[in-house]
Amino acid sequence: MRVKCAAKLNLYLAVTGKRDDGYHDIETYFQPVSLHDVIDLTPVKKGIELRGNSDAISWDRSNLCYRAAKALFEQVGFEGGVMIEVQKAIPAGKGLGGGSSDAAGVLVGLNEYFCFGLSKARLAELALKLGSDVPFFIFGQPAIGRGRGELLERADGLPGGSILLIFPTLRISTSEAFKKLNLMLTKTESGFKLRRLIDGLNRFPESKLETYNSFSAAIVESYPEMAGIFAFLKREEKAVFFSLSGSGSACFIVYEKEKEAREALKRVSGKGYKGLLVEPVKWTIEIG
Ligand code: C5P
Repeated sequence: MRVKCAAKLNLYLAVTGKRDDGYHDIETYFQPVSLHDVIDLTPVKKGIELRGNSDAISWDRSNLCYRAAKALFEQVGFEGGVMIEVQKAIPAGKGLGGGSSDAAGVLVGLNEYFCFGLSKARLAELALKLGSDVPFFIFGQPAIGRGRGELLERADGLPGGSILLIFPTLRISTSEAFKKLNLMLTKTESGFKLRRLIDGLNRFPESKLETYNSFSAAIVESYPEMAGIFAFLKREEKAVFFSLSGSGSACFIVYEKEKEAREALKRVSGKGYKGLLVEPVKWTIEIG
């Protein structure tokens, strides 16, 4: 069985408070995009075998794909085994949710392949134990996320446009990024800003949009590479809007037309940054 696992962007991301369980409350707009990993699942007699094509990632028992398969097999009392082979295209540690998407792909794929019959809600519960973003990938469509990111509400998503992703060399640990946060929006302020973005997306691409990411300010201040990229983003006149994704370090910039995004990609490459054109999609995990 072959499973496609899409990357996500956070079109909006506000951290609105610290919780008693050590996590933070967030309010975010999850948008899946066409960039995706591919996972092949093959039955084997026993155990979980994991392989992947990227040296930047540990393909051991700590890997989210391994942990997803183990949690699912334990949940249903499965005695057989699986070989999981991952072809990575989504760079790790950039705020694009690659590891979370792969974990969701393993849960959804194995549930279907071995006919375990777990409901989406049950898969989402297992998913949350693996990471705060994993339930979104089980949910399977653009969504507003609250709580840790697991309280999901359907959203329309970007109705079109072309997106340029920029990959700084910087790799950011999510937990470190949360620890360094000092500035927080109140829930009311966040609600207002998110509402304004959603209204703007409904009129896309009529007007320039403004969004917000709680992690941007500290990252731009701490890393000259990020300051350079943000300076570039601000100068892009044809952009509808731009932001950091997740806790970084990938940034995205949305254009109305593919031609504009293509020209911007040339400018980004000319400055020595790595970029990639993607499109908004309405799926997260696709089987077959
Ligand atoms: O949930 P996940 O394992 O992806 O989160 C990684 C780290 O990011 C957590 O250990 C926590 O420190 C931080 N985090 C948080 N609040 C969230 C999501 C993540 O504090 N809503």
